[in-house]
Amino acid sequence: MAEVYTEPVPSAFGAEPADPGTPLPLDGRGAGPDGAALDGIAATFARGNYGTAAPQGASGVRAAHAAPRPASGGSPILSVRSVEKVFGSRDSVTHALAGVSFDVAGGEFVGIMGPSGSGKTTLLNCVSTIDTVTSGHIIVGGRDITGMSRRQLAKFRRDDLGFIFQDSNLLDTLTGFENIALALTIKGEPARSIPAKVNAMAARLGVDGVLQKYPYQMSGGQKQRIAAARAMVTDPKLILADEPTGALDSRAATVMLEIMEMMNRQMGATIMMVTHDAFAASYTNRVLFIKDGAVFNELRRGDEARDAFFARIMEVVSFLGGEAGHVS
Ligand SMILES: Nc1ncnc2c1ncn2[C@@H]1O[C@H](COP(=O)(O)OP(=O)(O)O)[C@@H](O)[C@H]1O
Ligand SMILES: [Mg+2]
Repeated sequence: MAEVYTEPVPSAFGAEPADPGTPLPLDGRGAGPDGAALDGIAATFARGNYGTAAPQGASGVRAAHAAPRPASGGSPILSVRSVEKVFGSRDSVTHALAGVSFDVAGGEFVGIMGPSGSGKTTLLNCVSTIDTVTSGHIIVGGRDITGMSRRQLAKFRRDDLGFIFQDSNLLDTLTGFENIALALTIKGEPARSIPAKVNAMAARLGVDGVLQKYPYQMSGGQKQRIAAARAMVTDPKLILADEPTGALDSRAATVMLEIMEMMNRQMGATIMMVTHDAFAASYTNRVLFIKDGAVFNELRRGDEARDAFFARIMEVVSFLGGEAGHVS
């Protein structure tokens, strides 16, 4: 169970140029660290506006460029509170998570970035209840999932979470329609109401044309959009996406990201997406940077255009990449 979420593609945080298999920034911006970007980030640090694992969490970790953002109101959908995850015992102990705290409000699309080994997968596994925390609390929709029984967790995953993995994880022996319908069946939806829901969701995500196809007959992008429809159709509180564009070419990745943006903006989905790709992260409203198992920095997009947000994300990526000597 150690690595359910794997990252076969080298991280954009590495010192090497981006891997050709990685969806590259499509707007022609370079990914390499450059002097200007480092100056920008250095200035951020000089102003003391970055946070280093502030125990009070993300609220205290405002980036220098953060644009003012209207209060989202209401209680957060997700609260991660001082979460620690320790692997191993005595001789070899790894603090994969070393006191992570942040909130995700309803209607947010949050990106989680960080160098390889920084704890992103561990964090996602803890929120998705695939793994348990060593200490701290994770509250989803007002309920602390760290104290739930196995039975409660199974119901929680089924009713409150949607998942989009790097590889779509569709069942090969089911059609697109059946894959989406299954999520509703498992949730206990009455059979008569299922077809309309599946068809409507597939239409919104642009995959109504492949509903009768099996996964092997679909393109990578179509499979990911079927997977997104499967995640959305049960109307979950929170959608967790792990490198959802990691296995797609840049064109299909862009389509997928536009779909996720639409799910967030027009359909009200709350999404937390782990990615090593600054281009993917630039579609979110806010990016949390994880380093050594804690929140290191946060960027909010505000009303900024995606290009400009991308440039700011790259500044932090370059900075982190430049000093990330540890690559697991
Ligand atoms: N099952 C495990 N046993 C021991 N160490 C682990 C395990 N899973 C992850 N780690 C360690 O925890 C740290 C964070 O890993 P991970 O969450 O996979 O990082 P990321 O996804 O950001 O690359 C790394 O040092 C990794 O080696
Ligand atoms: Mg990982």
